Amino acid sequence: MATLRGLRTTPQCFSRAIFHYSKGQKRFLCLSKQANSQLAFVSSEYNEIYKRSIEDPDKFWGELASTRLQWIKPFTEVMDCDMNVGKHRWFMDGLLNVSENCLDRHVNRSPESVALIWEKDEPGTHETVTYRELLKMTCQLANTLKNHGVKKGDRVCIYLPNCPLAVATMLACSRIGAAHNVVFAGFSAEALASRITDAGAEVVITADQGVRGGKTIDLKRTVDEAVSKCSGVRHVFVMSRTGADVPMGKKDISLEKAMSEESAECAVEPMNSEDMLFLLYTSGSTGKPKGIQHSQAGYLLYTNLTFQHVFGYEPGDIFSCVADIGWITGHSYVVYGPLSNGATSVLFESIPTYPDPGRYWETVQRLKINQFYGAPTAIRLLLKYEVDWVKKYDRSSLRVLGTVGEPINADAWHWYNEVVGEKRCTVVDTWWQTETGGIFIAPRPSADNSTPKPEFATRPFFGVEPVLLDSEGVELHGNNVSGNLCIRGSVPSMARTVYGDHRRYLETYYTTFPGYYFTGDGALRDKDGHYRITGRVDDVINISGHRLGTAEIEDALDNHPDVAESAVVGFPHDIKGEGIYAYVTLKEHALITPEDLRLQLKKLVKKEIGSFAAPEIIQVAPGLPKTRSGKIMRRILRKVAANEFEDLGDVSTLAEPSVVEGIVNEHKKLI
Ligand code: PRX
Repeated sequence: MATLRGLRTTPQCFSRAIFHYSKGQKRFLCLSKQANSQLAFVSSEYNEIYKRSIEDPDKFWGELASTRLQWIKPFTEVMDCDMNVGKHRWFMDGLLNVSENCLDRHVNRSPESVALIWEKDEPGTHETVTYRELLKMTCQLANTLKNHGVKKGDRVCIYLPNCPLAVATMLACSRIGAAHNVVFAGFSAEALASRITDAGAEVVITADQGVRGGKTIDLKRTVDEAVSKCSGVRHVFVMSRTGADVPMGKKDISLEKAMSEESAECAVEPMNSEDMLFLLYTSGSTGKPKGIQHSQAGYLLYTNLTFQHVFGYEPGDIFSCVADIGWITGHSYVVYGPLSNGATSVLFESIPTYPDPGRYWETVQRLKINQFYGAPTAIRLLLKYEVDWVKKYDRSSLRVLGTVGEPINADAWHWYNEVVGEKRCTVVDTWWQTETGGIFIAPRPSADNSTPKPEFATRPFFGVEPVLLDSEGVELHGNNVSGNLCIRGSVPSMARTVYGDHRRYLETYYTTFPGYYFTGDGALRDKDGHYRITGRVDDVINISGHRLGTAEIEDALDNHPDVAESAVVGFPHDIKGEGIYAYVTLKEHALITPEDLRLQLKKLVKKEIGSFAAPEIIQVAPGLPKTRSGKIMRRILRKVAANEFEDLGDVSTLAEPSVVEGIVNEHKKLI
C-alpha cells in the first residue's frame, strides 16, 4: 500500500489516478480533489508507475489511450515500434478526430466553459472564448477551407499572430484532416516561402498585421512577397487584426467574410491514429530546416497527459503558456494539451516588457493564472529590473512555474522561485523538443517540492527512458555521468518522419547511435539519478529559446558577394542564453569596409531567416581555422567567441595554425 499525500491507495489504484476520462466521467478516480491539487506524486508512487510504464508500455499506453481519448473506432493494437529503424506506430487501426477531442466532447458537457483567454497586446485587454464559441469558429473555418478545395491530407500554412482565430485554424485543419504547418510570424518572406514550398501548401492563412509590444508587423506584406515565389499557392485568407488597409490581390480572400457565409456545423473527418496531424519546421545542424511530422493519436494522448500531470492542472484552473503558437511549445501547451483536457488556456500576444516589465505579473493578477509557463530568456531579462515590478501584483493564484526551451541558469531559477513564486510554487524546468512533441523530462510529477534542484529537469516522464551514451555509443550506466542524451524505446508523441525526406529523418536521429533516438543534447545524470541538460552537442544554437542551425545562418552570409566563407558559433549571452557570433572571410578583391559589411550581412540574415537570427558580432577574420582535410575547427571559434583564449587546445593539427592568432587579435579589437 502506498501513500499519496495522506491518501491510502493500492498500487493499481494510484496508477489509475492518471486516467482522466473514465467511463463514469469521473476525472480522478482515486484522488480526492485535495490530493490532486498537489499532484506531486511522492517518489515511491512515481517510481512504481514509471517502472510499469517502461516494462509494459503496451498495457500502460493502451489503457491511457482508451480512457483519455475519444475514439470513433477503437484501435486494435497498441504499438508497433522499432527504434533501429525509427519506426513509431501507435494505436493501430484506431479512428479519431483531434478537434472532436479538443472541442465537441467538452461542448457536450460544458459549452460555456472558457477555452481561451486572449491576452491581447494592448495592455490590460483580454477577450474570452468559450468552448461553444471556439467550436463554432472552428467549424466555420473548416467549412471555408473545404469549400476552397482543401481536403484530407493537404497541408495548410498558417502565418498568424497568437489569437483565437489562429487556434481555430489549427483545429479546423485537424477537423477536416488537413495538416497544418504553422510558421512563426517573425520569420522572413524567404523563410516562409521555403516552408510553403517544402510542405507543398496551396493555402496560406494570415492577418493584415500583427501587433507585438505596441508595434505593428506587416504580415500580409511578408506573405505577398513569399507567395510571389510559390506558384502552387491558390488562396491566401486574410484575417483582420488591426483593420489596416492592405492591398488584396486575386488570390486573397477576407477570412472573416468567408467564414460568415459558412455553417457553424462541420462533421469531423475520421482520421487514422497514424495520419499526419501537423508539420513544424525546425533547424538542425545541417541543411535547411526540416518539416517535423507529428501524428494524431500518439501526439494528442501524450500532450494531454503531460499537460495535466506536469503542471498539476485541475478543472477550473487558468493555465498560461506564453509561447507563440509558431513553436512546438505553443502547439502542445497552448493548444492541444490544454484543450484536449477541457482546460482554460491563455493566449499571450504581447512581450514581457510591454508596456513595462510588470506585464506578465499584471496579467497573472488580472486573469488569476494558476500555472505559468515561460522561457528562461524572459526570466533573465526581467530579473534585471526592480523586484517591485513583480511584487506590486498579486500572484497568490500561482501554483506552478514552468520553463522550457533552453537551460535555465541558477540565478534565473532562484529569482523565478523566490521572487515570482515566493518559494510556494513548484518550479518545473521541462526538457523536450519539437521532435518529442511533449515534455520528456521534468520535476513533476516525479517528486514533491521539498528538494528543488535548480538547473535540473530532473526525472523522465512516464514512458520515457533517457540514456546517456559516450561518443562511441557505449551506454554510461550508473550515476554521476555525462554523455549524449538519447532515448531508448518509443514514446507515442515522437515525430514520425521528416516531411518528404525519411532518409534525412533516419540519418539525423537514428544512425548516430543505432537503436536509440539521438536528441542532439548533452546531459549529466547526477548522484540522485536526476538529469541536467548541458546544451546541444551539435551545431545548433539556441537564441532566446529559438533553435537555429549554424549552417542556415552561414548560407545566408555566404550569399553576400564579398564573402568568401563564413562560420557561425554561439557564445554565452546574458539574456538570450546564446548569442550569434559570425566569422567571415572576404574574397580577394573585396573593397567593402567592415562597418558596411556588418550592416549588409545583418540585413541579409534578416531577409533570409528573420530578425531574431541576425548575428550580434561579425568578425572579418583573416582566415578560418581548418584541419588539413579542410574541416573548420568550430571548437576553437567557440572558445574565442567566449573569450576563452587561454585554453584553445591543440592547434598543431590545423592546416595554418597562425590563423588562430589573427582571429584572437581581431576578436580583442571587437569587444
Ligand atoms: O537543446 C534543447 C533545448 O531546446 C532544444 C529543442 O528546441 P525546440 O525543438 O525548438 O523545442 C523547444 C521547446 C520544447 C533541445 O534540444 N531545450 C529545451 N528545453 C530545455 C532545453 N535545454 C535545457 N533545458 C530545458 N528545459
